[in-house]
Amino acid sequence: MKTNSSNKRVGNHMKIVVIGGSGLIGKKVVNNLREEGHEVVAASPSSGVNTLTGEGLAEALAGAQVVFDVANSPTFEENASLEFFERSGRNLFAAEAVAGVRHHVALSLVGTERLLAMGYFGAKLAEEKLIKGSGIPYSIVRATQFFEFLGAIAQSATEGQMVRLPSAAFQPIAAEDVAAALTDVALGEPLNDTIEVAGPERTGLDELVRRFLRGTKDPREVITDAKARYFGVAVNDQTLVPGVNARIAPTWLEDWLSRSNAQKQTNETASAPKSSRPSPRKIALGLLLFLCGIAFATPCVSAGSAHDTSNEKSKVTLVYEHVLPNVPGKSIKGVLVEYQPGGSSPAHTHPHSAFIYATVLEGAIRSQVNNGPVMVYRAGESFSEMPGDHHGVSANASETEPARLLAVFVVDTDEKNLTTNDTK
Ligand SMILES: NC(=O)c1ccc[n+]([C@@H]2O[C@H](COP(=O)([O-])OP(=O)(O)OC[C@H]3O[C@@H](n4cnc5c(N)ncnc54)[C@H](OP(=O)(O)O)[C@@H]3O)[C@@H](O)[C@H]2O)c1
Repeated sequence: MKTNSSNKRVGNHMKIVVIGGSGLIGKKVVNNLREEGHEVVAASPSSGVNTLTGEGLAEALAGAQVVFDVANSPTFEENASLEFFERSGRNLFAAEAVAGVRHHVALSLVGTERLLAMGYFGAKLAEEKLIKGSGIPYSIVRATQFFEFLGAIAQSATEGQMVRLPSAAFQPIAAEDVAAALTDVALGEPLNDTIEVAGPERTGLDELVRRFLRGTKDPREVITDAKARYFGVAVNDQTLVPGVNARIAPTWLEDWLSRSNAQKQTNETASAPKSSRPSPRKIALGLLLFLCGIAFATPCVSAGSAHDTSNEKSKVTLVYEHVLPNVPGKSIKGVLVEYQPGGSSPAHTHPHSAFIYATVLEGAIRSQVNNGPVMVYRAGESFSEMPGDHHGVSANASETEPARLLAVFVVDTDEKNLTTNDTK
């Protein structure tokens, strides 16, 4: 960070628990703290620690000096997110008190009290209140929107090929810089206060998203519209930006874009190495096995029947396949993906000829495409994936309810594999 980053460092070797340690920010914080030589527990439901139910909390926190909370609600819906942050907070502080935790560090959002028309922000404010009343020494870091969230902002404002956004002041930040600020704060004395972090550039929301779309070769056009809203909320030049004492992070949007694009290319090369090209037999199987991590791992069954994935909590069925007579060389394939509660698929990449349109039929699906934010889509909601996109997260957002989605592929007829799993 450029300013005010010299918190007095405390302690030597510490045990630090990162709640939400598998998330976008959590993973980066875990790496930073390990590089500093601390014992770090990356805690989340996928590693058996659930703040909502309390499962695994006492064990994870035993002997910890610092707890990070960078978990996020699986949904932005008002009541569900309030329930998530309040219940999780209570469970967490009860466990922290027993473990004798000396510093609780949390991530919140700049402008929370100015965005209360969006229910999620009320939930974040409730989380902040719980922290302040917990009796545990704390530091709250409020960040502006992550660059990684710009795709979701564009999506929410899209009508056809146009993206309507106001020119309200906006100052987003790279997730990596947020993680650096959090690491710095966690290794210092508790602030018992709230600080703000933001990116280096303040400009219009419309302009930033325009540059993001240009930088990601997205053909959509941004239309400046003073009446357009930010996720349904009217915003002005004060709403989304921090106060004068904010810490300013070093990464500019264009630098982040070049790094992200380079990383994407590396990932694509790594996920489809020539040496792991499938054998002819696997190619035949691959015609039937596609979305979400089932390629090559499952027994061959005829088109239209079900395939169990390797985690036994998801099932994928090719429900139709037709050559498109007026689009030479292209076919349409409908794929039904069914998740049991808690089911998920391995990270994977789709072929360079595939356009994919997915609609959630039942429950809620957690999804992350490329380096975008992790989104939750509910029944009736759709999302799309472009040729060659990397699908990092594809999972049932619920631990208790099943979920189903229908993915429609428009793809080269002779495309052999609809999915290539990440190489580990
Ligand atoms: N998006 C933005 O622009 C922005 C800006 C400022 C601040 N923030 C804040 O940043 C924080 C982190 O966001 P993110 O994007 O890094 O989140 P994320 O990538 O969606 O990750 C969410 C994390 O929460 C964990 N989690 C979910 N349910 C849990 C539970 N019951 N118990 C424990 N952990 C649970 C997940 O674990 P599993 O992987 O195991 O499910 C995952 O590790 C959020 O609080 C958000 O409000 C976001």
